[in-house]
Amino acid sequence: MGHISLRQITKSFGDVDVIRPLDLEIRDGEFIVFVGPSGCGKSTLLRLIAGLEDVSSGTIEIDGRDATEVPPAKRGLAMVFQSYALYPHMSVRKNIAFPLKMAGLDKAEIERRVTDAARVLNLSDYLDRRPGQLSGGQRQRVAIGRAIVREPAAFLFDEPLSNLDAALRVNMRLEISELHNSLETTMIYVTHDQIEAMTMADRIVVLQAGRIEQVGTPLELYAQPRNLFVAGFIGSPKMNFIEGAEAKKHDAHTLGIRPEHMALSTTDGAWKGKVSVSEHLGSDTFLHVQTEGLGTLTARADGEFPVRHGDTVWLTPQTDKLHRFDAEGLALR
Ligand SMILES: Nc1ncnc2c1ncn2[C@@H]1O[C@H](COP(=O)(O)OP(=O)(O)O)[C@@H](O)[C@H]1O
Ligand SMILES: [Mg+2]
Repeated sequence: MGHISLRQITKSFGDVDVIRPLDLEIRDGEFIVFVGPSGCGKSTLLRLIAGLEDVSSGTIEIDGRDATEVPPAKRGLAMVFQSYALYPHMSVRKNIAFPLKMAGLDKAEIERRVTDAARVLNLSDYLDRRPGQLSGGQRQRVAIGRAIVREPAAFLFDEPLSNLDAALRVNMRLEISELHNSLETTMIYVTHDQIEAMTMADRIVVLQAGRIEQVGTPLELYAQPRNLFVAGFIGSPKMNFIEGAEAKKHDAHTLGIRPEHMALSTTDGAWKGKVSVSEHLGSDTFLHVQTEGLGTLTARADGEFPVRHGDTVWLTPQTDKLHRFDAEGLALR
């Protein structure tokens, strides 16, 4: 079980309102990602759910019970931090067993849970090693193992991959997704990285300045961002925004078009410009195009598109992929 309801919760530190009145239903078994820029309140929200901070107002329910005043250890949630804080002098086995020993479980039960966790995490062959004899990814798995053995109602992850190098992050991302598939336990995952959010989440919660900007599946946020903030935050490279006469033609204050939704041509098209920077990745080509009157637009082509700095190109937006926003930045439908 791991159904979590947040009802009108707020958090202020002194006179700074970090979480504005916020409602959210997290379903049992869901992989939910809180994403937003640094300082928007992601960690605070997670810590409120964990009970590491008290809410200023509102209620938190876990599996139908009011948990607002329940201390962290009694909420049945397990938190995995960015710094994994393993005990260096203890074996992997003892590190994973530690919370169970503290909780006074009997030996046989501890052994059963540690063995199960090690199997799920591919750590069975490493149980007698010490953390210093493990790679960064393995250490992160031990930290997750310490959470798994507690058999929590939900796992809370606060940017667990931030300390890892790029290749390892991609690996761990897959491992955590696989772990979720096999455990089917609720996971709440905090990141500032929209790619992690898009690839891992069942649903994403986009936060800005302590407010929820939008909640939805990755593809809902991609295809139907509710406002300029979400439109600009989800997707890489970012959506292009165009104001002025071109937007007015479409009855909008701001027009949005993603780089992958413009056709590129060296001979003709809707919007003419000069390539300022071209990025050739083999699989994709990204062009930064200085247009006549619409500012710099980023366009993406599949595979190689052979142009260079200074070349003339034409961009033609797919009209059904245009996003329209009003003067307040809200999406027009
Ligand atoms: N204990 C605290 N006292 C005062 N301000 C805090 C405290 N914890 C967090 N904040 C402030 O709350 C805001 C949100 O912080 P945080 O939740 O850590 O953001 P994020 O995890 O999204 O980067 C920041 O402006 C931060 O400075
Ligand atoms: Mg944080």
